Amino acid sequence: MPTKTLPKHIAIIMDGNGRWAKAKGLPRVEGHRKGVEAAEEIITAVRELKIPYLTLYAFGTENWNRPAEEIQGLMLLLEHFLKTRQEKMLKNGIRFRTIGDTSKLPQNIGQLIAETSEITKNGKETTLILALSYSSRDEILRAVNRILLKPGTSNLEHRTITEKEFSQYLDTKDFPDPDLFIRTSGEYRISNYLLWQLSYTELYFTKTMWPDFTPQELMKALDEYAKRERRFGKTSEQL
Ligand code: FPP
Repeated sequence: MPTKTLPKHIAIIMDGNGRWAKAKGLPRVEGHRKGVEAAEEIITAVRELKIPYLTLYAFGTENWNRPAEEIQGLMLLLEHFLKTRQEKMLKNGIRFRTIGDTSKLPQNIGQLIAETSEITKNGKETTLILALSYSSRDEILRAVNRILLKPGTSNLEHRTITEKEFSQYLDTKDFPDPDLFIRTSGEYRISNYLLWQLSYTELYFTKTMWPDFTPQELMKALDEYAKRERRFGKTSEQL
């Protein structure tokens, strides 16, 4: 595939782990365990394709409402992933980052995130961004509150803000907007994910459950993306 038609940033909702497990008579956490394996294969494929940014929705703000046992299972998987993959990320030039309100995560995970981000900060191949304790409305509100609490913003009546300026207060300030969004499991929703950033993103949905989403499935999404014409509100002739 010509690199010209590859997206620079892919954002994924890895949905369907629970249903995948249920269909096999397994506990939900087994679906998540298989989900991490699928994620690792996709991270490798994205790096090999030299796609610079990959954002994975690993834990949503609303996921805190799931049964305690499932939350604990997900946190253990995350802990294990960070502990065992830190070195591999470093070796492979992966720069690890997160978006979301990570202050809500257990302390040990917070520490691991800080450590992994620091160790891998010079990675030049692909930036892997995990959305953790993330929801888009929460991100936007945190951005607004940061602006309101900033010294010197007391006289707000005479102050306007540009899109570019506002973007600098979002968790994603260091990353370009996604070019391609993928959601697995046959759900056709954005579910509070990157609402600001997905404004001009190409959307791709597949019925495949996340644990079955292989690099071959990723190639199908990339083929579809390459066929789309992105106009950013302009006409074909203006492009
Ligand atoms: C959605 O499936 C998936 C999640 C809520 C969690 C996704 C997390 C992982 C794959 C693990 C973390 C990843 C890394 C790389 C550490 P669901 O449980 O909503 O499935 P369902 O809709 O079928 O119930």
